[in-house]
Amino acid sequence: MKRTWISETVDHIDETVQVSGWVHRIRTMGDKLVFVDLRDGTGLLQVVFYKPDLDETIATLVDELRPEFCVQIEGVVQKRGEKQVNADLPTGTVELGAKALTILNTAKTTPFEIDKNSKDVNEELRLTYRYLDLRTERMQRNIRLRDQIIRFFRDYMHAHRFIEIETPILMKGTPEGAREFVVPSRIHEGKFYVLPQSPQQFKQLCMVAGFERYFQIARCFRDEDQRGDRQPEFTQLDFEMSFVEREDVLAYTEEMFIQLVETLFPEKKITTKPFPRFTYQEVMEKYGTDKPDLRQNKEDQNELAFGWIVDFPMFETLEDGSIQSQHHPFCSIHPEDLDKLDSDPLSVRANAYDLFLNGYELSSGSIRIHEQALQKKIFSILGISDEEQQDRFGHMLDAFTYGAPPHGGFAPGIDRIVMLLAGEPNIREVIAFPKTGDARDPMMHAPSELEEKRLRDVHIKLDTKKD
Ligand code: AMO
Repeated sequence: MKRTWISETVDHIDETVQVSGWVHRIRTMGDKLVFVDLRDGTGLLQVVFYKPDLDETIATLVDELRPEFCVQIEGVVQKRGEKQVNADLPTGTVELGAKALTILNTAKTTPFEIDKNSKDVNEELRLTYRYLDLRTERMQRNIRLRDQIIRFFRDYMHAHRFIEIETPILMKGTPEGAREFVVPSRIHEGKFYVLPQSPQQFKQLCMVAGFERYFQIARCFRDEDQRGDRQPEFTQLDFEMSFVEREDVLAYTEEMFIQLVETLFPEKKITTKPFPRFTYQEVMEKYGTDKPDLRQNKEDQNELAFGWIVDFPMFETLEDGSIQSQHHPFCSIHPEDLDKLDSDPLSVRANAYDLFLNGYELSSGSIRIHEQALQKKIFSILGISDEEQQDRFGHMLDAFTYGAPPHGGFAPGIDRIVMLLAGEPNIREVIAFPKTGDARDPMMHAPSELEEKRLRDVHIKLDTKKD
């Protein structure tokens, strides 16, 4: 018999159906009647086992059922009496009168209760048994919501002539500020790949390649200290457009977020439309931060206060007095500031912008440099010698000499978007298999040691001496 999804049982009143799933809850009424809430990927269904009507073997099996057993049940979908309707349950108008039961797999007692919200359970335990944690209603909702949001973005991008292009995970270092994860090469002794902090250079090269509109649901890797809104690997809606100016990118992005909210979250309200806009100087003077929380009511889970920041400084000084780019060195320069590059670089503004939401930075982007001479000049200001420029960024500098179009883009962080739209306090709640605050996976025990032979394969000898 074909399996029926639980959510579809309401369309099969008085028919015999077969459902599969997990025992969510069991209620025994006397010795004749057992109610089981059965759970599948689409929801919950009340199943009634009335033992006097069942084969003896099945009646015995019913007594063996425990929470989280994986089962298949055959029965007749029955309309519930008016008084028995459960308005909280999408299938609350029906129940399944069970006739047959197969136990597909038993389950040990779970380390925490699956039919309750796990938010107060110790996080180490939740992450050790993440596959169980993900069975809970809230986590199922979050991960399914994430899927819907990503699907919305993909559809939106495709509807606007963007194409999704996968860019490499094994690459050469990028100069985007964060520390990179390194991967030793077996074939090339003493050489290393790094994992991308973002597909920044590749997306720009896709513009040189003439794709004009690129996007990617891109996995990014950064070896930095963790916070509630940071993970060592995370996902961006990375995109880039050719022949655009700042206003084109801002308008496109703003419309996309408004439509996302209107389509998937009609109950939510955007505080100000069009999104308010500040220069970096204004926002710092007014709020002392570049990610202010502009909600009128900070308790309101349904309020979304988006805002733009433009005109970020191109450079900043480090403690040792050296200069680095505040965003990344590929940002173009505010046209009014070009002549200050030599005389007063620290006052130069980048053609860079951020989107913030409810006190979080959602996204950064910029219009990029597309000319070799200006890119070389920026590298020089950053103290990168001609030789080093060629060694590290020769591919970009060369590419700019083959008719590179003007281009710019943006990269909203998907984990943060889903976190804010799901009303969760940190991004671990919206990532299926996240790392702990100290970058571990307690389920698989990553990171882990490697046997010496495998280290030798990649030409690594550990120096475990502590200095
Ligand atoms: P940036 O480094 O600002 O820009 O990153 C863009 C967005 O990615 C998200 N994000 C993170 N999310 C979770 N954990 C992290 N560790 C983490 N780091 C960043 C944030 C952030 O706003 N290549 C440029 C974009 C561009 O210029 O187009 C970039 O990566 O939401």
